[in-house]
Amino acid sequence: MTSEPVWPVSMPKSRDFWMLDPKVRYLNHGAFGATPRAVLEHQSELRARMEREPAQFFAHYVGPELARARHALGVFVNADADDFIFVTNATTGVNLVLENLELEAGDEIVTTNHDYLSCRMAMQALARRRDLRLVVVEIPLPLRDGDSVIEAVLAATSSQTRLVLIDHVTSPTGVVMPVEKLVAKLEARGIDVLVDGAHATGMLELDVSAIGAAYYVGNLHKWLCSPKGTAFVHVRRDRQKGFRPLVVARGAGGTEGFRRDHDWPGTYDCTGFLCIPRAIEVMAGLLPGGWPELRARNRAMARAARDHLCSTFGLAPPVPESMLGALVTLPLPAHLAWRGTQPTAPIDPLARTLFDTHAIEVPVFAWPSSPHRWFRVSAQLYNDRADYEALARALGDTPEIGGLHVPT
Ligand SMILES: Cc1ncc(COP(=O)(O)O)c(C=O)c1O
Repeated sequence: MTSEPVWPVSMPKSRDFWMLDPKVRYLNHGAFGATPRAVLEHQSELRARMEREPAQFFAHYVGPELARARHALGVFVNADADDFIFVTNATTGVNLVLENLELEAGDEIVTTNHDYLSCRMAMQALARRRDLRLVVVEIPLPLRDGDSVIEAVLAATSSQTRLVLIDHVTSPTGVVMPVEKLVAKLEARGIDVLVDGAHATGMLELDVSAIGAAYYVGNLHKWLCSPKGTAFVHVRRDRQKGFRPLVVARGAGGTEGFRRDHDWPGTYDCTGFLCIPRAIEVMAGLLPGGWPELRARNRAMARAARDHLCSTFGLAPPVPESMLGALVTLPLPAHLAWRGTQPTAPIDPLARTLFDTHAIEVPVFAWPSSPHRWFRVSAQLYNDRADYEALARALGDTPEIGGLHVPT
């Protein structure tokens, strides 16, 4: 059932604040988030400092500043700063965890059909190399509730299961998964969980300690709006011994414990990580209620967008209200469904048309496989009601398949 959309008040689309192209309606924060101008200016200052005296910068400035960034992140997601490793993106984080698993031939690793393609590929590669069984749990849409996810995942585990990968917020389908409950159930069976939280930091009120997973990977360049190339891996204390980096290099001076081997992967531009405290502060300053209000407002906007699109095209929302965040995936309206062969172009022709003709940036994709096609919208502070209404009009105006160069 959809209800009348309740639109939250729009924020001014301040060009002083965001660097987004004002001619484009950007509804794809989910794929690549926008970073506030103030945060990028801070990064430029840090880069200038790095280039003025590189040796002093790396030898003396970076260590304490990285510690400050880790501390700020720890407070933000409720975890101990010493239990984080910084990595450049969630893909690297997931690979890092997978490479560290102690597994034997015949062991099982489990994922779901809502996972992210690169992570699935990393699981597949690991399974091939180590002679493991990869189990993909099918969780259909429409989704009933969180318990149905838990039941399906538990039913797919066995005494051979060593790891379950679950997304906190799923990439293709925008579902907020019941990770805390699922981790507790799997832990009780002695199964480690890797939570792929690429979308969670900044979208949800994230409490890494309460979730209690053996491994939690998060992006900061999506919903925290820090510069591109900022992500983290949280490793629970009892899984830190022997946890090795993907790149073997000398340890960073002064760092203790399990992080020592991870903190210096060789020379790199670490300024994005140093901007984490600034990103947290700048985004919080946008609304009187800080981060809680920001998260609530983005969810409310995503929900209103969903209700508007569903009522315009007579669609049934595939995900229950309680499992919605700031990402909404919906099936394409009937007049845009494929009747021919799904094209193999890397960018769906409909997404191309929406961008080229209407200047709307929105992902369109097949899931779980062709011919089922979906589109996904996201809601960040720079979005307003007019963006989603324009999308609804553009979808309505787009002619049937024939207009989209579909091979038959
Ligand atoms: C669930 C999930 N995992 C991993 C990733 C990969 O993120 P990155 O490209 O930052 O590695 C994404 C990106 O959208 C994602 O949605």
